[in-house]
Amino acid sequence: MSATAKKKALMPEDIRARKGGVPIVSLTAYTTPMAEMMDAHCDFVLVGDSVGMVLHGLTSTLGVTLEMMIMHGQAVARGLDQALLVIDLPFGSYEQSPQQAFANAARLMAETNGGAVKLEGGQHMAETIRFLVERGIPVMAHVGLTPQSINTLGGYSVQGRGTQADAIIADAEAVTAAGAFAVVLEKVPESLADQITERVNIPTIGIGASAGCDGQILVVDDMLGLFTAFKAKFVKRYANLGSQGRDAVAAYSEDVRARRFPGPEHVFADAAPVRKSKT
Ligand code: KIV
Repeated sequence: MSATAKKKALMPEDIRARKGGVPIVSLTAYTTPMAEMMDAHCDFVLVGDSVGMVLHGLTSTLGVTLEMMIMHGQAVARGLDQALLVIDLPFGSYEQSPQQAFANAARLMAETNGGAVKLEGGQHMAETIRFLVERGIPVMAHVGLTPQSINTLGGYSVQGRGTQADAIIADAEAVTAAGAFAVVLEKVPESLADQITERVNIPTIGIGASAGCDGQILVVDDMLGLFTAFKAKFVKRYANLGSQGRDAVAAYSEDVRARRFPGPEHVFADAAPVRKSKT
């Protein structure tokens, strides 16, 4: 059995069953070592299209392709045994029609052995979610701030304040009715997240939402302090690997220039001298 064909312990239905229970833990991952680091601690791991910004230096998620998601999905699959693998459908790969979404989601699942896909959008994506779920593709929905729509949303601001709240509630209810097994709530007011969590019967996964959500997700490079271009208010840094990494590179550079590296322990002796026999 190949590494990408490993059986995952958790299935979308296990995540759905956690509604109202012990909070669901999740992070994004894009590489095998990161996935291995998370597997024992996370219920699901998301190969988010945030990969474009945090690993590829893009300024938004809009330039991420299906091929990138497949490549990172395969890498993450190799590092997971227990956690459910969820992979984002990137911008432009699913919005045109349910048929387009199915073709690309099926390719993503088949080529990565992922357990589910995530897509952005509420009421207007409900028909597509239903189409996918009825054809065997578990879908995690994503409402509130949907970064693939920054050009129509006008940026990355909090969604659902004041009179906008009803639209986000309607989005969450629509994706639930369409068969999504969980829904990400991104950057919405705490009280709105709590209200949605109360109203829908699938788990809500918060990012910039509320501790009352059924689970939480963060972008791993944000929480490890690896992505330092900016820090959103909702990010808690659990480490500062970015600054540690910069210090390490500076120390290496000084060592090389001062000929302190490599040291005797890093180099190889010549072949052992051949003993001459006494005659
Ligand atoms: O792409 C991503 O990392 C995401 C999470 C922020 C939920 O969609």
